[in-house]
Amino acid sequence: MANVRVTRRVHWNSGHRLYRPDWTDEKNQEVFGACANPYGHGHNYEMDVTVAGAIDPETGYVLDLKVLKDLVEDRILSHLDHRNLNVEVPWLEGLNPTTENLVVAIWRRLEDHLPAGVVLERLVLWETPRNYVEYTGG
Ligand code: NI
Repeated sequence: MANVRVTRRVHWNSGHRLYRPDWTDEKNQEVFGACANPYGHGHNYEMDVTVAGAIDPETGYVLDLKVLKDLVEDRILSHLDHRNLNVEVPWLEGLNPTTENLVVAIWRRLEDHLPAGVVLERLVLWETPRNYVEYTGG
């Protein structure tokens, strides 16, 4: 049976500040620039979640997209949307919330929660319309 990739695109808003608490304010400003400003700033995040699997001959689906939608809502969006990533999300605690760190943390919350026979293939996370990161595990 053909193996097919299926993607759902999601959107949310979060606030954050890039900084390391073990660095001085000067060092944070030098490395992270305006992203280190003490009161933070927001982003309109977009993310493509791609999964893959065989087409179920009965339904014609790899998986019901409602299942993927609900999984991402439950495990990710309900935790991140309209939140401050530095202080309000237990599973990001201790992480500098760069897009790179965020995409790996999101991967780890999704990879073991997909229906049997469906695997997480790729996440593409946009922090701005011009900057994105992608992660395929590992
Ligand atoms: Ni930012």
